[in-house]
Amino acid sequence: MTALTFVATVPRGFADLLAAEITALGGGSVREAAGGVSFEGPLATGYRVLLESRLASRVLLQLARARVHDAQQLYDFVRSIDWREHLDARGTLACGFSGRHPAIANTHFGALKVKDAIVDQLREFTRQRPSIDTRRPDLTVQAHAARGEVALCIDLAGESLSRRGYRLQGGEAPLRENLAAGILVRAGWPAIAAAGGGFLDPMCGSGTFVIEAAWMAAGIAPGLLRQWWGFTGWRGHDAKLWDEVVEAARARARKLEVSVRGADRNRAAIATAQANARRAGIADAVTFERCDIAALAPPAAEAPPGLLCVNPPYGERIGGGEEAAAAHRAIGEALRGPFAAWHAVVLTGEPALGQLIGVEASRVHTVFNGPIQCRLLRFAPGQRRARREARPGIVIDDASIAQSPGARMFANRLKKNLVRLGRRARREGVTCWRMYDADMPEYALAVDLYTGAGPDEGRRWLYVQEYAPPASIDPAAARPARGGALWGVPGATAWPFGDIPL
Ligand SMILES: C[S@@+](CC[C@H](N)C(=O)[O-])C[C@H]1O[C@@H](n2cnc3c(N)ncnc32)[C@H](O)[C@@H]1O
Repeated sequence: MTALTFVATVPRGFADLLAAEITALGGGSVREAAGGVSFEGPLATGYRVLLESRLASRVLLQLARARVHDAQQLYDFVRSIDWREHLDARGTLACGFSGRHPAIANTHFGALKVKDAIVDQLREFTRQRPSIDTRRPDLTVQAHAARGEVALCIDLAGESLSRRGYRLQGGEAPLRENLAAGILVRAGWPAIAAAGGGFLDPMCGSGTFVIEAAWMAAGIAPGLLRQWWGFTGWRGHDAKLWDEVVEAARARARKLEVSVRGADRNRAAIATAQANARRAGIADAVTFERCDIAALAPPAAEAPPGLLCVNPPYGERIGGGEEAAAAHRAIGEALRGPFAAWHAVVLTGEPALGQLIGVEASRVHTVFNGPIQCRLLRFAPGQRRARREARPGIVIDDASIAQSPGARMFANRLKKNLVRLGRRARREGVTCWRMYDADMPEYALAVDLYTGAGPDEGRRWLYVQEYAPPASIDPAAARPARGGALWGVPGATAWPFGDIPL
């Protein structure tokens, strides 16, 4: 069987998990690459990854790669491939160009060159030309440039694999399905479920985590509902082989043996989640209830610890400000209270909101929900050490002050100082230094960095002190400014709040 080369793309921060998943699905020579994972295998393996990968966004078949120096060489390279093997000349075509190339700065121009080369070649051989269809073409050709080389690929997925087909309508801020699946894998859900632990998303919105968790625990392949694929009109598609891969995946599905629940206080969200679960074919196996997180507890008879997985509202999406702060505090209460013995994972948009959970995370990962940089906070069972609380009287629980122009200026100043002064400190071998010293009068703080030695080697602390505001500053105005600044410190420095004595 011919070994083909495939490239699977994945949300940032999950390439390691995708590589492990592809290996388990039979991929060979699996390698993490920028933005994805490359692997080798016969077409059947590519089909299996398309159908069964829970993390991949797309799977591309790489036809060739070459070093090209300019647009003409790109055109010649694309034209050197026999496109009659891939596309009927009367078919439809879409082309894309991504990555960076010193001589092809404009990706639209790059895509146009790729399209021209394919169309010109087919016209020369067949006297017919394919038409362009950017919605659901017979063939999508994607060129990707990196380090002067261009890889030419066929997009076998066609549209993002996150579109499983169960979610016609999202809730107010739905998560992409493959991102939700990645978070579940990162949180160890497959092992927790295998040990008999249950699952709960107490703020489930449209039910994405619940459905992905149920599918994962029941071995239901995520692509089974999809009606259209990028390979549907591809001449190299092997329909019989695909049917075999689909049948084998169907045969692997099993009964859901563990409790999988979702809850949300919003009635419309619960209705959407139920409709999505029906389309996903698991409405009878999972439960949804409309209630506040404060009313929830693990099932009484449950022995092994389960997983609480939640994506509370946060500033940049729905419910910024006080609602987001209240939701994070309520999660903290659940983690310290009825769910103390459970594993937990919280996806939050703002580091400062994460602080309001008030529990020390055992691991923190940076992930991207679309363009939004988020933190994934993981909490091990039983490890519910309360975080250091801020000094009473310091305003740190109003997320809106972190958005004030002044607080942003403060955070930017801190970032700049960290880079500029940090460079100098490294050059001069200084390990303890002041990164901010009331540079802005309304933010009358001193921020010092200390580097540990001896048993604390490798650890670093920020120490934040407050000056009395200068006479020129109204004390009433200084108070929220101080709060905004404190919100800004962890974000600007990427420092865990617990390592910032106040
Ligand atoms: C960001 S959305 C969750 C989106 C979800 N992950 C999805 O993919 O659709 C946050 C949800 O939290 C719910 N929520 C906020 N505070 C809550 C509380 N105290 N108890 C229960 N649900 C709450 C909101 O109604 C909203 O549906």
